[in-house]
Amino acid sequence: MTRRLTASLQRIALAYGPTPLEHKARLSQAAGSPALWVKREDLSGLALGGNKPRQLEFLLGDALARGAQAIVTTAAAQSNFCRACAAACAQLGIRLGLLLRGQADEPLQGNYLLDALFGADIRFIDTKDPYDARIPGWLQAFHQDFESQGLKTETLHMPGKTGALGAAAMVDLGEEMAGQFKEQGLAPRAVYTAAGSGLTVAGLTLAFKTLGLATRVVGISVQQTGEKMVPLIVERARQAAEMLGLQTTLRPDDFDFIDDFRGPEYGVPSQAGVEAMQLAGRTEGLLLDPVYSGKALAGLLHRERHLGEPSGKPIVFVHTGGTPGIFANASLIAPWLTT
Ligand SMILES: Cc1ncc(COP(=O)(O)O)c(C=O)c1O
Repeated sequence: MTRRLTASLQRIALAYGPTPLEHKARLSQAAGSPALWVKREDLSGLALGGNKPRQLEFLLGDALARGAQAIVTTAAAQSNFCRACAAACAQLGIRLGLLLRGQADEPLQGNYLLDALFGADIRFIDTKDPYDARIPGWLQAFHQDFESQGLKTETLHMPGKTGALGAAAMVDLGEEMAGQFKEQGLAPRAVYTAAGSGLTVAGLTLAFKTLGLATRVVGISVQQTGEKMVPLIVERARQAAEMLGLQTTLRPDDFDFIDDFRGPEYGVPSQAGVEAMQLAGRTEGLLLDPVYSGKALAGLLHRERHLGEPSGKPIVFVHTGGTPGIFANASLIAPWLTT
């Protein structure tokens, strides 16, 4: 067996995998695509799956190897990362401190409800901006509170090692997909994924380029503009490549980044996203969410329908999870559902 690209990293088993790669005939037809396949990363486990469990195998593997008894991290109130991390820390018997962007009277539902259920220590910070310059100081204070209780604490926060490990985990996803393409005899023209922090786009592109696949990664942004994200993705891929000892370097034109499907703002459903959720639901009984995967499928559908692509080559949609977001946004989804 060949050595995996991520073999040099610490890793613990938390996720289910390999996650399935499924052909979706009825959704293909609706998308006007010769063959649409879905990579079911939403089935990766850790309390409703997504692209975070695989990242946590590396992030917590690294933290535990350094003796961590507590973790501190930060994200939005409805973060899938925080929910999966809370499930993992509960399973590992270690403490978790979450600094969530939002208000103390945040409705207790969706991912936040699950964080509380899994026993995370939760504090709110009054900012919507993941790049707010005050966040490192708030994290440091939380970290020190745990340390003063005698707990060896690790803080997970991008940029830096957390970002590099997260992107490396997405290299592992890309390598797993490349193996599945080979097994199925597939040479996909494009792989679409939702893009938030850009780690998934960075890791997939790095993996495909390293392995010599011609498959194009297309990131559909749910948060930031391409102007902001493209250089960040290149940088995240550089850090992951360095960590993994890979010679591959990414250029901005090695992947596509589309920022027209973000909707009103990050975390708020869009009509196109809900329509895409409905299409996936009604053609395949497939659950997408309104914050990430619904917006990403909306981007895929729009692009594929306008591309007039004659090659007949298959495309792949990476289902990155997000299921709890359906329930946290029920009242915003309802008006756009058609009968
Ligand atoms: C469900 C879901 N899909 C996609 C993403 C985006 O992945 P990335 O941050 O690697 O761009 C996230 C990140 O939070 C997520 O929770």
